[in-house]
Parts: sequence; structure tokens; C-alpha cells
Amino acid sequence: MFQSLTAPPPDAILQVMQLFRDDPRPEKVDLGVGVYRDDAGHTPVMRAVKAAESYILQSQETKSYTALAGDPAYHAAMADLLLAGALPSERIAAAAATGGTGAVRLAMELIRTANPDATVWISNPTWPNHTLLAKFVGLKQATYRYYNAAEGALDRQGMMADLGGAKPGDVVLLHGCCHNPTGADFTAQDWAAMADFLAERDLTPFIDIAYQGFGANVEADAAGLRLLVDRLPRVLIAASAAKNFGLYRERAGICLVTCPEGERAAIQSTLAGLNRASISFPPDHGARVVTTVLTDPAMKADWLEELDGMRSRIAGLRKSLAGALRQETGSDRFGFLAAQQGMFSVLGGSEAQIARLRDEFAVYVVGGGRLNIAGLTEDSVPRVAKALATVLDE
Ligand code: LMR
Repeated sequence: MFQSLTAPPPDAILQVMQLFRDDPRPEKVDLGVGVYRDDAGHTPVMRAVKAAESYILQSQETKSYTALAGDPAYHAAMADLLLAGALPSERIAAAAATGGTGAVRLAMELIRTANPDATVWISNPTWPNHTLLAKFVGLKQATYRYYNAAEGALDRQGMMADLGGAKPGDVVLLHGCCHNPTGADFTAQDWAAMADFLAERDLTPFIDIAYQGFGANVEADAAGLRLLVDRLPRVLIAASAAKNFGLYRERAGICLVTCPEGERAAIQSTLAGLNRASISFPPDHGARVVTTVLTDPAMKADWLEELDGMRSRIAGLRKSLAGALRQETGSDRFGFLAAQQGMFSVLGGSEAQIARLRDEFAVYVVGGGRLNIAGLTEDSVPRVAKALATVLDE
């Protein structure tokens, strides 16, 4: 029965991860997969997470099932982090999911169940898994222009022109903050204009927010999302605690749907039913850690402080890399690196150039030239800048 199977095309990000692991050169620099690293190149377990885990270890009395949609305390804690009380709980349906990927998938399955004719509009470029998930869920998809690489900035005109092709009932997938891969985010005016546009055309926003806290701070990073929730009757949200709690392998995500009160019960039971049909009960450990941290004032303060430090480290590295590239190239063409937000930026580059960076300079970036800035250290910046300038300027 399996003779007809062929290997799926490799995921661009995970391929880089593997090539990096297999490279024996000690000077290698991993700017591939979106994982935070400290100055020693280590991805730490956050202090508050350790504290919460130790509390859970002492106090947990059962590991019996929670509920198909996960623990309501987790829903409330995440809704508070994301929406800060912008809506009453009667207007929020929620289900715990297996990481950010599981949350995106659950939201897409909900869309397909509710409106199989809907097209999901996805930014070009985007995180490659968006496209893959939409395909596997069986949703129609279309792309909208997002980024002007020459200017290192949003392509507002292209975006609105492409989204002009959306029909009522379609869904527009937006990145809540720290756009992956470009690092180019909406301003407050962009969010307001998008809210008007979506409302006028009867389009539903779907916000994937996987990096809250890595842009400006946890509140500012959710401001666009909160504005949409305030202005539109329905918003789909997929959130991840992988990055901002450093819980990557625990798969802590959540799908929230804000809706009119009368629609909540049906959405809630559909989300629970979709979990039953794929994973039954969602994983609990990461979700419990998140709930514990967010509901304990001391742990929460410590978490925010550590997250602040991570964000500042990335912002500092952005400035250092932009400065080093200015020196290497004698131009400001990479100046946008300092202005963009979050872990990623895109420098472009052909497949041959990306391969040369890897083979000749042991610098690993994702195809298309996506860099995980958090993979740099102040020590590696000059060498990486030289490699980038040599290869990309040729
Ligand atoms: C990334 O974009 O590198 C991360 O979100 C990891 C992943 O699953 O692709």
C-alpha cells in the first residue's frame, strides 16, 4: 500500500536546522530556525517557567484528562494576555492546541467547517507552514503582496490591491507582530485602516501571534489584535507560548475566537469536537506552566523582566548587525534591520548565495535570506556581516 509514497518536499526551515546540526565546523553560526538564543548560544528554560514547574511538581495531584478544549483557566490567562479584558468572556471561544502550529490548524479546520468556500488570504512571503496547513486542511488559499524588499518596508499598495480580490466571507491571515519572515510590522494606522477595510468588505481577520513580547513589549505587540477585536464582530486568533515562554517542545498554543455572544456556544463545541477528531485532549504541561506564571504576580513580573531582556538583546543585535553591514558595504541598504522587529528579517539572496554563505562561511540562513537575529552574538556579528556583504554584494 505504501509503494506510491514519495518523500514530501523538505521544509525550508527544518532542512537548515538539520544541515547545521550535521556541520562539524566549530565556528558555524545558526541563523535558521526561530529559536531564541542567549549570548552563549543557549536556549534557556526561563526562570519563571522553572519556578512554575517546580510549583506544579509539588502541588499537582492528578494527571487525569482535562477537557477536550483544555483547561478553562488556561483560556482565561491567555485571553487576558492577548486581549487584556477587551471583551467579556461570553464573547470568547477558546481551545488549547498543540503549539502555534496546532492552533493555526485548529482555526483553519474551524474555517473549513463553518465556511468551506472561504479563501484564506496569506501574506507573500509568510511562514511556510501557513501554506502547508491550509493545503492539508483543504482550504482555498490566495496570497497578497506584503513586503517591498528593495525598500525593506511594507508594500501597502500591493497588499491592498491584492486583498481587493477577496470576496465577502473570506479570511485574511495577518501576523500579530514580528512578521515571519520579514520583521516588517503594521503601524497603528495600518491596523486601523485594515480594520475599516475588513469591516467594509465583510472579511474575517485571522491573527497568528507567535512572538508577543519580542517586538516592543507584550502590550504594544497585541495592540493591533486588540483593535481588530474591538472593531470587528469576529476574529480568529492562533497564539503560541513556544517563543515568549521558551516552551518550544511542550507545544503550548491556543485558538481563540471572538464572536457575538449568541455564536459562542456553537463555536466552543465545534472547537472541542475538532480536538476530539484529531488529538482528543490537548497537552497540558506547557499550558499549566503558562497559567501558573500568568496568574502568580511574582512569577509574571519575573517572566516579563526576562522577556524584556531577550527582546533588548535582539534589538541590540539588530543595531550591531546594521552598523557592521554599513561599515562593510559603505551603504545603508541594510539599515532596515535596525528598524524591524522580532527574531526575523529577510536579506534576499539566490539559492547559490545562501549555499555559499553556508559552505564557505558556515553561516546558516533560510532560503530567501531569512535571518534569525537571535542566533547572532556580539562576537559573531562582524564575521557574519563580512560574509553577508561578500556574498550578497557580489
Ligand atoms: C520558525 O519560523 O523558524 C519557527 O516558527 C519554527 C518552525 O516551526 O518553523
